Amino acid sequence: MNVFIAGIITVSDKGSRGERKDESGAVIRDLLSGIGAQVSRYEIVPDERETISARLIEWADGAGIDLILTSGGTGLSPRDVTPEATLAVVERLAPGFSEAMRLESLKKTPMGMLSRGVSGIRGKTLIVNLPGSPKAVRECLEVILPTLPHAIETLRGEASECAAMEASGQPDADAQ
Ligand code: MTE
Repeated sequence: MNVFIAGIITVSDKGSRGERKDESGAVIRDLLSGIGAQVSRYEIVPDERETISARLIEWADGAGIDLILTSGGTGLSPRDVTPEATLAVVERLAPGFSEAMRLESLKKTPMGMLSRGVSGIRGKTLIVNLPGSPKAVRECLEVILPTLPHAIETLRGEASECAAMEASGQPDADAQ
């Protein structure tokens, strides 16, 4: 497939005030580069529902971004509102990404069940919530990474070879 365009939103009160280095954003950038994705937008925003939703709308509607990955704000603390901000703006759910990440996370740590991250589609943009720590980001993103190119092709209406992939159980080389 052609290069796809990604945006990264790190959701962190401390990060947005410059009080914490955003290592998770760097991990996302690194992993995405491994599948040839181009990161066109990156921002650190506070754990404010309105701000997160506004940025998701802006990037999905006007910036030609295929994939937005958020990191952080998916837990149970009162300030964790990334899933709600995401659900407020997606038009269709794509729960498989979050289900797969939680399933694999639980094989590594029981804490995996604490992430409430969701995934969905707004227009032609796939939005996936990742947890906040660099370790969790790596563990989760690695699960969905092989499927992302085909997912984005499908979203763009360019994909044709789902059946071949189902047969092999793997996204095939042609589709990536
Ligand atoms: N998933 C994986 N794979 N590895 C982890 O270490 N940490 C969990 C969970 N998901 C973790 C994980 C923890 S401790 C929390 S609190 C939640 O993600 C939510 O994190 P967030 O609030 O930073 O988004």
